[in-house]
Amino acid sequence: MNKDNIVKRKMIAFDHGDPKRIQHFLKVASFANMIAIEEGLDDEIVERVTLAGYVHDIGIIVAESQGLKNTPKRQEEFGPKPAMKLLKSAGYDDALCQRVGFIVGHHHTISAVDDIDFQILVEADYLVNAYEDGDDKEKIKNARDHFFKTASGIRIINEMFGLEG
Ligand SMILES: [Fe+2]
Repeated sequence: MNKDNIVKRKMIAFDHGDPKRIQHFLKVASFANMIAIEEGLDDEIVERVTLAGYVHDIGIIVAESQGLKNTPKRQEEFGPKPAMKLLKSAGYDDALCQRVGFIVGHHHTISAVDDIDFQILVEADYLVNAYEDGDDKEKIKNARDHFFKTASGIRIINEMFGLEG
């Protein structure tokens, strides 16, 4: 099994019994991968954003397993450690694990976005959340204008939700 599949397998095991969360992270990873490729980024970044997509919400399960309510802050707080551990166990190097850990630890904090990999994860997560949460068109348009930056992400959000420029 290749490393990417090991991560998917482990995340499915982590989220066992919760198909909604499993389908959430698979969709986020898929959009992140697509955006990174369409933005012409190199293979290393494409790999990194895809992996960030698989593991970005891992903190939810950790928080809940400790009997705590799932909040965005707790997701950030509890996510990095198990995310890095999981990636390391699949064979990824320290630099990649650290960077993905940082993204996981700040992924609800738009002001913390410091590079294209993080930006793409935020866009991909919103593309999926907007649908799953049933956001209305106005809210989706505002989100697009507020924090979408990549041409690929903007194109997807416009096409998927039927937004006008
Ligand atoms: Fe998410």
